[in-house]
This record gives sequence, structure tokens and C-alpha cells, in this order.
Amino acid sequence: MTIQIKTPADIEGMRIAGRLASEVLDLLTAHVKAGVTTQQLDDIARHHILEVQGAISATIGYQPPGYPPFPAAICTSVNHTVCHGIPNDRPLKNGDILNIDCTVIKDGWHGDTSRMYIVGEGSIAAKRLCQFTYEAMWKGIAKVKPGARLGDIGHAIQSYAEPAGFSVVREFCGHGVGKKFHEEPQVLHYGRPGTLEELVPGMVFTIEPMINAGRREIKELPDGWTIVTKDRSLSAQWEHTIAVTETGYDILTLSAGSPPPPAFIKA
Ligand code: MF3
Ligand code: CO
Ligand code: CO
Repeated sequence: MTIQIKTPADIEGMRIAGRLASEVLDLLTAHVKAGVTTQQLDDIARHHILEVQGAISATIGYQPPGYPPFPAAICTSVNHTVCHGIPNDRPLKNGDILNIDCTVIKDGWHGDTSRMYIVGEGSIAAKRLCQFTYEAMWKGIAKVKPGARLGDIGHAIQSYAEPAGFSVVREFCGHGVGKKFHEEPQVLHYGRPGTLEELVPGMVFTIEPMINAGRREIKELPDGWTIVTKDRSLSAQWEHTIAVTETGYDILTLSAGSPPPPAFIKA
């Protein structure tokens, strides 16, 4: 098993898939409101991917060894859900935060991205966690260039999140992505600078930190997918699919509705 290097043409294919995934998140923004269920959001996403985009959902029926098939086109992870939340019939309420994670396949290429959404007016603590996690993802992205190492990315995220009083989930990581949903390498969101694999142009992987307001420990629910914080503290996550270029990084999961980079990223 080795890290697949993508050609410039591969990367243009992945950018199309990545934009489609991001456009699903754009579309859902206006639908995230008190009273809406995550199942309704999934219905909208599924129809858009299959019928409007003419693409494939990577998550419907996705079944890694030891898991039941995932039943939906999006993961919806509300409040203390860390990741892999399954859409259901509970209405969202004011102040909820949720991550929506969408992965589409177009021409064989995967695009994998997620964002946080706040229902109505979130608490100051909830907004701070969502904002901080977005910035933590970008701290990792900013490290991406040839010659840097995967440990630099993890360290950048951990050393941003922990001094602020947040914790980094260890059990789930970013991943190589391409013709397969999950490829090598693993991209940890914690670590030491100068360690692990060296980045080279043409690598494509996700950066998708899961950051908890409380302790980092998690547990899996009996549905076989849903991951929650053990202490029931809020959890946030953002995700982009990133290509390593000759000089730095190229984000493949951008669309009209993508939030701008934080101020600490220079244009
Ligand atoms: N999109 C998730 C990731 O970022 C994986 C979701 S798998 C699912 O890697 F089956 F839960 F949808
Ligand atoms: Co991912
Ligand atoms: Co994802």
C-alpha cells in the first residue's frame, strides 16, 4: 500500500467532484432551520446528487469491514455527535450546531467536504467552537507544501486547539482520497512537527479535525456508526480535500458558498 500520486488531469477531475460535494453543502445552508429534520436534509442532498448533478453518493451503502451499510447521502452530526451521525426524524431546534459531511463521486473521483451549521442563534460557546475548529482546519491546511511532513499538519491543529481549552479527537483522521474514498495516508490532527510522511506534489488528502469543547474521549452508539463525546460536550468538525502543489496547496472542495479563509491566511 502506497500513497497514490495524482496527475494534473486527475486533480482537475477531483476538483469537479469536490465542487459538487461543496455545492451540496451550499444548497443545504438555506434549509438548516428550526423544525427541519436531518432526514429532510438528506432527502434534499440525495435528490440533488443523483438527479441534478448526475453524480454518485459515496456514502449511501458505504460499508467498511465491521460496519453496517451507511444509509444516507450526508452525515449529520448534531451537538455532541462527533461524526458519522445518521439522518433521522428529530427536528432541529434553535441553538443546535451540526456538521454536514458530503462525499460525491463524479467520473470515478471522490470529493469529500464538511461544514458546521448553526440553527438560528447559537450560544457564544457554540459559535466559538465552530469558528475555532474552522481556524484549526486552516492552521493545518497552511502547512501543506512539498517538503513539509504530515506531523506538521497534526501539530499545527493540536497546538492551536489545546491551549484554547479544546480537545482533539484521536480515533478519526483525515485520509488520502481519489478513486477510493479512503486511501493512504492517514492524516492525524495531532502530532509532532517534522515527523511522518513527507509531502510531495500530487498527493491528495483530506484535513478534517474533530474538536471537542470538553474531553477528547468518544464512544460509538449501538447503530454502529454514530460517534459522540463521552462527556456529552459539544463537538465540531470542518473538512476540505487538498492537493499538494509544487509550491503549496490547492483546495479541491470549493464552491460559491465556501466560507472565506480566516484572516491569518494571506492571499
Ligand atoms: N465523509 C466521511 C469522511 O470524511 C466518511 C463518512 S463515511 C459514512 O471520511 F459512511 F459515515 F458516511
Ligand atoms: Co473525509
Ligand atoms: Co467527509
